[in-house]
Amino acid sequence: MILPILEYPDPRLKKVAAPVRTFTPDIAKLAADMAETMYAAPGIGLAATQVDVHKRVIVMDISEDRNELRVFVNPEIIAAEGEAEGEEGCLSVPGYYDKVARAERVTVRAQDQFGKPFELEAEGLLAVCVQHEMDHLVGKVFVDYLSPLKRARVATRMKKKQKLAG
Ligand code: NI
Repeated sequence: MILPILEYPDPRLKKVAAPVRTFTPDIAKLAADMAETMYAAPGIGLAATQVDVHKRVIVMDISEDRNELRVFVNPEIIAAEGEAEGEEGCLSVPGYYDKVARAERVTVRAQDQFGKPFELEAEGLLAVCVQHEMDHLVGKVFVDYLSPLKRARVATRMKKKQKLAG
């Protein structure tokens, strides 16, 4: 099921997601719906916060063929190193891209949608994507890293666009 994506500056994007404690079929269903929503958008990552579900769940697929879905439940960054600046976009801020500084490499510990724990060492786009999506879970959107002036411009532009879309 494709879920509606919240758009910046919707205040619900600021909610902090709660950890998943029991891996009911609802969690697997949520991950599947989020994946469908991400692929349809199309995007390379989506956090539950963006579909107004405030649980620590992320889906991601940075592969060219769109066949390497990754699901992270309760992700934690346990190591980070280096710094890299890259251009980011977000399904909640459609049409806007800007540079954000992130750690270059991260090690993530998480569970899959069934509760199975795993660790992942990520670099490049995958590392950026993990950090970007994890920010959503604590109520942060990438434009929060921009200067207040730039951020205000983005908000104005988004509100205008949302008004036009009705
Ligand atoms: Ni995003």
